[in-house]
Amino acid sequence: MKKTVKDIDLKDKKVLARCDFNVPMDENRNITDNTRIVAALPTIKYLLEQNCKIVLCSHLGRPKGEFKPEFSLAPVAKELSKQLNMEVIMAKDVIGEDATKKAENLKNGEILLLENLRFHREETDNDPEFAKKLASYGEIFVNDAFGTAHRAHASTEGVTHYLPSVSGFLIEKELTFLGNALDNPKRPYVAILGGAKVSDKIGVIDSLLEKVDTLMIGGGMAYTFFKAQGYGVGDSLCEEDKCDLARELMAKAKEKGVKMLLPIDTKIGKELNPNTESKTVSWTDIPDGWQGFDIGEQTIEMFRKELEGAKTIVWNGPLGLFEYDQFAVGTYAIAHKLANLNNAITIIGGGDSAAAVEKAGLADKMTHVSTGGGASLEFLEGKKLPGIEALLDK
Ligand code: 3PG
Repeated sequence: MKKTVKDIDLKDKKVLARCDFNVPMDENRNITDNTRIVAALPTIKYLLEQNCKIVLCSHLGRPKGEFKPEFSLAPVAKELSKQLNMEVIMAKDVIGEDATKKAENLKNGEILLLENLRFHREETDNDPEFAKKLASYGEIFVNDAFGTAHRAHASTEGVTHYLPSVSGFLIEKELTFLGNALDNPKRPYVAILGGAKVSDKIGVIDSLLEKVDTLMIGGGMAYTFFKAQGYGVGDSLCEEDKCDLARELMAKAKEKGVKMLLPIDTKIGKELNPNTESKTVSWTDIPDGWQGFDIGEQTIEMFRKELEGAKTIVWNGPLGLFEYDQFAVGTYAIAHKLANLNNAITIIGGGDSAAAVEKAGLADKMTHVSTGGGASLEFLEGKKLPGIEALLDK
């Protein structure tokens, strides 16, 4: 167990807080999904209650060590000001003159947001000097950036060598829900895994096969499992070189007594285009020249039935090409099923699956929607996250 903001005296202290404000924006730099900003508010509000001087930092996108205005965190400062109903001072740089001066002049109960950490290559290089400069902004470091906890960067791992470091409420919440799903699940325990490639999900399938009662597979990676059983998949996404692995995973499921459910039918389309001609076929009958883009109605029914009575469900990866309406049916049907289950703990891994339940308007019907894409995946794989490991133990 890691120490949180509740386990350390923060009264009137100068605090450096790492958040994950890596939020999507449109071409006019308007934030299109503020979930990660809203998720950071409980910790920020707590620091305000403790009368701290608050220096916030985050990355945004991957500007690769260069100042690029399109990666500025200024829109985030604006959104934070709106959410908190107070001014959030924006620094023009990270460790330069402007940020240093603004941090020096910061009063208790005020908030300063540094510019994008990744304007410095030293951030991703976890450079000790850079980390030390960041650490000089605070007396205590609070990490609440769950989405970046799988990165050993200067602002997530490096700073912890210079300051007493604790987690914020968001990291605490993520660890509670994802941790319970791994170590203490109520049964029956079902995992739903989708997404494009088996290769991205090997670790998580392998790890979850040790824990779950049922594993449902959908999305692009299902076609590699079809191929692995000797069937044609037309032009569907398929990793030929992962067929052996798919067979091994199926064998492992059998050996562990895990029910592995693969799609029994699939909605296929002629080409990658939202209005392409489409039809539903059996999983063994995908014709040449067609590509699988979604699970079919019979599979939806089979998955729904299996979910009935499940007590813990973890879902990572969409079940079809949900960005196109005609191939979003499977993903949304399963999202609705989860939203309407009684007495079940429903946990949605971040990234695309979180975006899908958000798009379906069902995020608040789930027990927990993770703010971490890569981070939640690595956590479910059983990997240690460096940004969390580095925090003080209780
Ligand atoms: C994410 O969006 O998954 C996190 O903010 C981490 O971003 P990164 O993959 O660029 O490190």
